[in-house]
Parts: sequence; structure tokens; C-alpha cells
Amino acid sequence: MKKLIVLFLMVVMPALGLAAGGNVHLEEADIDPTDQASLQRGAKFFVNYCLGCHSAKYQRYNRMAQDIGLTEEQVKANLMFTTDKIGDTMEIAMSPDAANRYFGTTPPDLSLIARSRGVDWLYTYLRSFYIDESRPFGVNNIVFKDVGMPHVMLDLQGWQKAVFRENEHGGEPVFERFELVKPGAMTPEQFDGALLDLVNFLDYVGEPYKLERQRLGVKVLLFLAFFFVIAYLLKKEYWKDVH
Ligand code: HEC
Repeated sequence: MKKLIVLFLMVVMPALGLAAGGNVHLEEADIDPTDQASLQRGAKFFVNYCLGCHSAKYQRYNRMAQDIGLTEEQVKANLMFTTDKIGDTMEIAMSPDAANRYFGTTPPDLSLIARSRGVDWLYTYLRSFYIDESRPFGVNNIVFKDVGMPHVMLDLQGWQKAVFRENEHGGEPVFERFELVKPGAMTPEQFDGALLDLVNFLDYVGEPYKLERQRLGVKVLLFLAFFFVIAYLLKKEYWKDVH
């Protein structure tokens, strides 16, 4: 019985917790990790809009160049702002102390964010900042309540307002939809496209070997299939004399 209770706590409780926190619908991030043009656009977006505050400290510039189909010169000229050594990792210039003073918290490293949060959450989070005058930066976020991150893509997305409806079961109001009150430099479609590129890039950063692993996996399976045939024929050959 004790075991059962422990099992319940370990397996069912976290699932319930997730269900409770997940009352916001997550948009599906339809990304294609084999699309190098998308990864390149995502990398550019990342260094321009995120690397000011967030590092990706497990990602090396030269490895990225190779993986997303750029030359080292292209990366040096267009994507490197905090270092001039192509073998360096994607660090930021800001110290954790300074970050704490500005934001009251340290912007986390984003190397593994796509794996810990999932790409759908990430995509939804990035497009869900809305006006909230009560917050220090004037914005809040639907999937990350009282977030400490300013809306750094405001010039692109524009200002959006969140419309809530009353919760019929009592408790917090329920999010219904966004309303764009002041357009940004991009249309909503362009903005979502740019975010998908960014999420694609962050997903790549979370597991740079993914494509290689999948390619290798296919080869391994093919080899095993081939080997199975050989082993089977051999077995038949050996047992012929025994029978
Ligand atoms: C001006 C600094 C700044 C910039 C630029 C910035 N962020 Fe943030 N970000 C923060 C801070 C501060 C937090 C911590 C928020 C908190 O914990 O309340 C944060 C949190 C996050 C989180 C949530 C992490 C978690 O706890 O799971 C994600 C994801 C994120 N940022 C992604 C991005 C991406 C992608 C970009 C580029 C488009 C970006 N940020 C640009 C400051 C920044």
C-alpha cells in the first residue's frame, strides 16, 4: 500500500500539477529542423534580440556555423557581437550582478530552454506579452504570469491587449484573445514566422546533434536489418548439419 502511495505521488501528482498550470492553450510550433535558411534567420534574431541578456553558453560559434550552413567569416561579420574568437561560446557581456539590479532576477541561459520548456511553450510565451500598466516594464505574459522580462520585440509585434472573461468557477479570469492596439513593424503573420525561426534555432541549440543522431539512427537500423538477414542465413547453414 505504501508503495502504491509513493507511486501515486511520483507519477500522478506531477501530471496533475501540469494540468492545473496548463489552462492556457499552447500554440503549436510547426518548425522544421532541416530548414537551414530558417535556422540562419533564427540565429540572427537571437543575437540581435536575446543575446543582450541571455547567453547560450553551451553553443560555440564555429560549431553553429558548420551546422546551420554558414562560413566562419559570415558568422564573424554578422552574428558575433560579444567576442571575436570563433571558438568561443555564446556568452553575454552583462554581469549577473548588473542583471539583478536591472531586472530583480538573472535572465537564464537559453541553451537548454527548448528542452526544458518545450517548443510549443516557447513559441506561445514569445508571442504572449500584453500591456499591463501595473508591471514594472508595462507588460505581462499569458503563460508566464508577472514575468520579469521586458517585451523586447515590441517594435516588431506592436502593442497588444489581452481580453479576459469572467471565470464561471470563480478564481482568476480566463484569457480569451489578444487585440492588437498599435501595430508594429511586422504583420502578425510575419512576426509569427520570425518567432518560428527563432524557436527552431533555440531547438537546434538545445540539441545540436539531433539531425546527426537521426541520420545515424537510420543507418544503424538499416545495418541491423541487414545483419539480421546474414545472421538468419548463417543459423540455417549451421543447423542444417545438426538436423
Ligand atoms: C532586456 C533583457 C532581456 C532580453 C533582451 C530578453 N530577455 Fe528573456 N528574460 C529576461 C529576464 C530578466 C527573464 C527572467 C524573467 C523572470 O524570471 O521573471 C527572462 C526570461 C525568459 C524566458 C523564461 C525562462 C524560464 O524561466 O523558463 C525565456 C524563454 C526567455 N526569456 C526568452 C527570451 C528570448 C527568446 C529573447 C529574445 C527574443 C529574450 N528572452 C530576450 C530578460 C531578457
